[in-house]
Amino acid sequence: MSISHTAQDWHAHYESGRDFCPLTDTEKAILSEQLSLPEGIQGARALEAACGTGELARFLAAAGYQVDAVDWARSAVERASAASTDGVVCHQLDLTSGDLSSLAPAGTGGYRLITMRRALAHLPDRTRTIGELAALLDENGVLCVITPHADRHPQELRGICLDDAEIALLIDGWQHTERIEAEGSTVLLLRGPRTEPVSYCEKRKPGQRCTR
Ligand SMILES: C[S@@+](CC[C@H](N)C(=O)[O-])C[C@H]1O[C@@H](n2cnc3c(N)ncnc32)[C@H](O)[C@@H]1O
Repeated sequence: MSISHTAQDWHAHYESGRDFCPLTDTEKAILSEQLSLPEGIQGARALEAACGTGELARFLAAAGYQVDAVDWARSAVERASAASTDGVVCHQLDLTSGDLSSLAPAGTGGYRLITMRRALAHLPDRTRTIGELAALLDENGVLCVITPHADRHPQELRGICLDDAEIALLIDGWQHTERIEAEGSTVLLLRGPRTEPVSYCEKRKPGQRCTR
């Protein structure tokens, strides 16, 4: 289930000065524990997808990442740019446009980290967008999805949440997955995107190649 808001709807929201839930202390603790860069690693690239006004992008930059922060709402990007610190570059881009090639980090193997907080439930074709983001990760990269969980929110907020079945579908596409519950939200750490759909490949006969 996703609710369809246009880029213009989101633009109006941010232009009116409103925002969304700030990062909680629990989220910050999980992010720091799970995603801190090893000592001596400098300039690792991160992509903050659907960044809103950029709080998480600034948090990642403070942790040492070079961050591309992306949202399709003009006023969100303007506010994120105005507040941005060293290490954050903001871009206005539709993540569902089918062309994320402008985000591929030049001269590196890809992003070490891609984050998407409180946004996946809003996207019309999650599998496709997640697949396109996965293609931007470097070989050891991690995709961190933070989503409100449907079981811990009232029915009227169902459209901004994922439930267990939707989460299961998402993590099915990854070789290594961790799931951490953080109050009303679920944090998913996904590594090693599968290149072939599991359901088809598991059905193939011994020796038969999986070609889809
Ligand atoms: C609920 S807000 C969350 C913003 C931010 N991640 C946060 O945690 O505060 C969802 C965000 O997703 C963005 N968004 C929705 N669809 C998008 C798309 N197709 N491309 C880029 N951004 C999108 C919206 O503009 C909005 O900023």
